[in-house]
Amino acid sequence: MKAIAVKPGIPDSAHLAELDKPSVSDVKDGLGVLIKVLKVGVDATDREINDAEYGNAPPGYDFLVLGHELFGRVEEVGPHVRKVSPGDYVTCTVRRAGRTIYDRIGRSDFTSDEIYYERGINLLHGYLTEYVVETEEFVIHIPDALQHLHVLPEPMSCAAKAVEQVFEVQRRLRVWEPRVAYVTGSGQIGLLTTMALCLRGLEVHTLARSVQTNNIKAEIVHGYGAQYVSTKELSLEELVAKTGKPDLIVEATGSSQVAFSCMEILSHNGIMVWTSITGGDKQINVPSNKINLEWVLGNKALVGSVNANFRHFEQGISDMVKSEVIYPGVTEKILTHAVKGLDNYREMMDLLVSGKALKVYVEVA
Ligand code: BGC
Ligand code: ZN
Repeated sequence: MKAIAVKPGIPDSAHLAELDKPSVSDVKDGLGVLIKVLKVGVDATDREINDAEYGNAPPGYDFLVLGHELFGRVEEVGPHVRKVSPGDYVTCTVRRAGRTIYDRIGRSDFTSDEIYYERGINLLHGYLTEYVVETEEFVIHIPDALQHLHVLPEPMSCAAKAVEQVFEVQRRLRVWEPRVAYVTGSGQIGLLTTMALCLRGLEVHTLARSVQTNNIKAEIVHGYGAQYVSTKELSLEELVAKTGKPDLIVEATGSSQVAFSCMEILSHNGIMVWTSITGGDKQINVPSNKINLEWVLGNKALVGSVNANFRHFEQGISDMVKSEVIYPGVTEKILTHAVKGLDNYREMMDLLVSGKALKVYVEVA
């Protein structure tokens, strides 16, 4: 089988690799699910792995197959598989269990191992190939009615976990009635988080750099009933003057500078979630005494959120179903750039590097 791979540690090493076709019997106890790969989404993580900022090959290989946003169709199942059947549309989680207590209770997204295993990212091959086999436990059924949103359940799962974390942490207050939420960043995580928060009845302001006019991101944000704020048109301070301090901020820009700036505007008892993965070694100056003081006197909370387990995929899919009824046709606008076939890996990388595409995905079959 063909696969799109990189040589970890070597910048710009994307190439076509060869893999053997897997079979259901590769998974023990009759729990294998053989999946024909239909589409795979790519994101900034793939770009940064190709830039050699992180990512490691599986033991015994000198390459890593990319791709962690799978949309496929079940081709064959082992005799003990119950969750899915041939013909079902599916996706798979990204992280695989390590050795900690969290991994053992199905919450590998909270692993406390320093080394984590993620398909297409670290130590395990990804989905940018023709077939994959997976244990039933990591396979999630996508309803036929969502097939037009194909690769989005994985990024949606990360948004769903971030939102879940907000409400879990805020149970500390016994009563929390959030009104204003800011989502910083309008990439796929920012947009899907906007959707999830709008579904929960918040007044959402989604902040981005680009101006409103002729802007697909602004169109999507408005489609969810949220406000699109271009930081070129309105400063953070001006926005706060208009809305009051936000009760909640979900940070998804990919910029640590924005992550720290937002610490200066959160309301008392507020919560901020950081979701950006910021490679490199950028350093900035922050008004640390001021922030420290305000965070203590305001009982504010900051939580980092990464990855997702199968429950977050299910929650995300459930939100997507609801969203298709309440905001029909909005979410599919995220899927802007299709690349035809694994052979066109160069085009895939160029689109990712250009930074101009909202969402790039490869049509594998
Ligand atoms: C993926 C997550 C993963 C994270 C860190 C993200 O792009 O969507 O599943 O945990 O990168 O590797
Ligand atoms: Zn990702």
